[in-house]
Amino acid sequence: MKTWTIKLEELDRSELAPEDFTLVDTALARLPKAHAPYSRFHVAAAIRLGNGQILVGTNQENASFPVGICAERVALSAASSLAPGMAVTAMAVVYAAQGQTSSKPLPPCGMCRQALHEQKTRQGAPMELLMCGMEGPVWKAADASDLLPFAFSGEELP
Ligand code: THU
Repeated sequence: MKTWTIKLEELDRSELAPEDFTLVDTALARLPKAHAPYSRFHVAAAIRLGNGQILVGTNQENASFPVGICAERVALSAASSLAPGMAVTAMAVVYAAQGQTSSKPLPPCGMCRQALHEQKTRQGAPMELLMCGMEGPVWKAADASDLLPFAFSGEELP
């Protein structure tokens, strides 16, 4: 019999490495800039590039709802466009629902997990993922693609 396990750590914010604390803080500061007039669910994803630079994406909604894009994919697209070929070493995802104080970690949606998985494959190196609310614990995955086991990789595509 084979078994697979996923490792996810729950940390107190005070246990974060200084650069991870900064990443979470940067994402939190950008929450008010999310464009989420329909769901009023603001999400921000801050990413740290291989050169230490930080880029932030927020969710971008549209009156035609399926047109909207999650914060994680906005951030990944920004990285790939503004710093092509540069590895994304970490991402912090935070949120605020209807301006309320959030305290539970927010795991990325399935579509974003697929995008995170492909970014990891492209760069050939893990991307740390930090998830948290405005307060409370932080969930940390050593590699974002751990959240999508048995992912579609495109290996079989012609
Ligand atoms: N959203 C994100 O930005 N990231 C996720 O991982 C989950 C959901 C956004 C999409 C939409 O604008 C709002 O949150 C409500 O679903």
